[in-house]
Amino acid sequence: MNNIIISAKNIQKTYKEGNQRITVLNNVNIEIEKGSRVIITGPSGSGKSTLLHILGTLLSPDSGEVFIKDENIFKLPENRRAEIRKRHIGFVFQYHYLFSEFTALQNVMVPLILSGKKEKEARNKAILLLELLGIKDRKDHRPNELSGGEAQRVQLARALANEPDILFLDEPTGNLDHKRAMSLMEMLLKLNKEMGTTLCMVSHNRELVRFFNYHYAIKDGQLENEY
Ligand SMILES: Nc1ncnc2c1ncn2[C@@H]1O[C@H](COP(=O)(O)OP(=O)(O)OP(=O)(O)O)[C@@H](O)[C@H]1O
Ligand SMILES: [Mg+2]
Repeated sequence: MNNIIISAKNIQKTYKEGNQRITVLNNVNIEIEKGSRVIITGPSGSGKSTLLHILGTLLSPDSGEVFIKDENIFKLPENRRAEIRKRHIGFVFQYHYLFSEFTALQNVMVPLILSGKKEKEARNKAILLLELLGIKDRKDHRPNELSGGEAQRVQLARALANEPDILFLDEPTGNLDHKRAMSLMEMLLKLNKEMGTTLCMVSHNRELVRFFNYHYAIKDGQLENEY
């Protein structure tokens, strides 16, 4: 009956720096259907990353509630929240966030090992993912030996390792040229259609909205439903 996988109610977030306070999110509400593709757009500094981190359970709001699969996320102890994250959520960060001492392959293996896979199985699956994303030949490189676009694809491979129900993407095409950006979007579309992965992406690039079935824009700390 309930087809809503993420629901956020009255989200409020203010950053304080010295005497300054900036309210980034002011009473944000959103419901995301299972299996849907949602994009949230807005100019730089409008609060896209802040909102995505809150929806993705990584940052707590000052007030308001986030439900994922009917769990009231920020009411849970951190270990339960981490468990939900590990089981259901994949996150591709805006600024690449790979383990710098590990190779691309090892980075993708980490979540597999943490979820209990044997090393050999983790390695094989990680190689498959890197192959799928067209970067298998970069597997033994460390993050500082990868281009921005390659590093972002390693992040995506890592985010997909545990086959998340929900994939959060923060400006994932930011470091890609047009052709690679389009091929990444096609890949995400395929993932959504074939695996039913719910996509929630933020971007300043309105050219990408055609790949999504729901579009919201952040304006003055609030979400406006575009369609
Ligand atoms: N940890 C923080 N402490 C203080 N201010 C912050 C913090 N994080 C973000 N901000 C401020 O909050 C506002 C929203 O930031 P956010 O990163 O969510 O924007 P954004 O829409 O993702 O921008 P961009 O498109 O440039 O990535 C900005 O004015 C930013 O400077
Ligand atoms: Mg951002």
